[in-house]
Amino acid sequence: MANVIIVGTQWGDEGKGKVVDLLSEQADFIVRFQGGNNAGHTLVVNGKKHIFHLIPSGILHQDKKCMIGNGVVLDPGVLIEEMDRLGEVGLRVTPDNLLISLYTHVIMPYHRALDLARENRKGRTAIGTTGRGIGPCYEDKVGRGGIRVHDLLDSAAFSEKLARNIEEKNFILRNFFQHEALDPAEIMDEYLAYGERLRPFAGNVSLQLQEADAQGRNILFEGAQGTQLDIDHGTYPYVTSSNTVAGNACCGAGIGPTRIDSVLGVVKAYTTRVGGGPFPSELLGETGEHIRKVGGEFGATTGRPRRCGWLDMVVVNSAVRLNGLGGLVITKLDVLTGIPVLKIGVSYNCRGSRLDIVPAELDALEACEPVLEEFPGWDEDIEKVRTWVDLPKNAKKYLEAIEQISGVPIRIISIGPSRDATIILKDPFNDKAAQQLLSGNIYDG
Ligand code: IMP
Repeated sequence: MANVIIVGTQWGDEGKGKVVDLLSEQADFIVRFQGGNNAGHTLVVNGKKHIFHLIPSGILHQDKKCMIGNGVVLDPGVLIEEMDRLGEVGLRVTPDNLLISLYTHVIMPYHRALDLARENRKGRTAIGTTGRGIGPCYEDKVGRGGIRVHDLLDSAAFSEKLARNIEEKNFILRNFFQHEALDPAEIMDEYLAYGERLRPFAGNVSLQLQEADAQGRNILFEGAQGTQLDIDHGTYPYVTSSNTVAGNACCGAGIGPTRIDSVLGVVKAYTTRVGGGPFPSELLGETGEHIRKVGGEFGATTGRPRRCGWLDMVVVNSAVRLNGLGGLVITKLDVLTGIPVLKIGVSYNCRGSRLDIVPAELDALEACEPVLEEFPGWDEDIEKVRTWVDLPKNAKKYLEAIEQISGVPIRIISIGPSRDATIILKDPFNDKAAQQLLSGNIYDG
């Protein structure tokens, strides 16, 4: 058995969905522990595209149990719509394969309204949020005024909490943002109906994980967004409102750190970012445009074009440190095929000084220019390659440079969107001992 955490090492959209889907084959439980419907995974299975925002991508494996942990913020209307859409394509979502934590905080209409109103007001300095109410919902959670899943199951508790919240939110919406007030009666009806629909799915995720762990079952923890979007360690304030690093898998699911066996980091072979904020290796010209087009770099949630740039190993190395990564998964290597000279950022030049970490101060990061090393590209179509030896020589050199600069072994290489377009070098569920050895996992007793 093994309990494995998967996280993004960059600014999200690294292709975690496909990796989780792949590894879900061996997992018994797949758990989301943070974020909400700001995330979006596009998965291609049997040639068909599936987009998910809330349900763990593991739902494609109908015999597995997916869990939404307490660290997630849940928009119940979106979840129900997702469940219905999956039903239409023949994928069942039942209490047997989905469990929602009673402790999970609920995104309310006023969270979405506040998110959008704040962004509009900021104008040029907007964060570029997904507008899904993520930040305001986490604010209420930390401010101890939030509404949780169990509240939706108890009309008296819900009514009292909604009344308390709506008075304050409507005051701010009306008086500060000149936004129309929201109708509490409408919200009450809508959300109590959601509660009834979700009642059979609600339970204690932490307890079920403890049982699963005691029985030696495999658990996969699925991170959303990426390390540079972490509320503490990312490029603040251009971040999301939760901790995206591996440590939060424990808090956001209700499992102790001694129960985790390994942590895998997903690295896109180049870098992308949606929304505002500094991006030292950004490519503003033709090559960036080419990567965007070939890589289909448009947001799965908002459809926004993603900003594209060279692989930035300063960013990846921060993720190695912050997550304690024991292995890397490289994705979208195929997108780089045909680019004659590839570049990798190995450090920053910040106002004349060399910097090997992402600085805390936004203005310093904005002043950073990447120090780029060049690597010869390859022209061979690699999408059908299934073994390391069959990769073009220059692709191997590019990958070896990533291993060498990060000091972390590559476990899996993804060379196309479908499940089988993958080279598995080492399976994290089947080499627990090796993983621990390589990751120097301090959590393992
Ligand atoms: P929020 O999470 O909607 O508050 O947005 C905050 C920042 O995180 C914005 O720059 C978003 O574009 C970014 N973001 C949120 N979720 C994702 C994701 O799943 N992938 C990439 N960027 C994301």
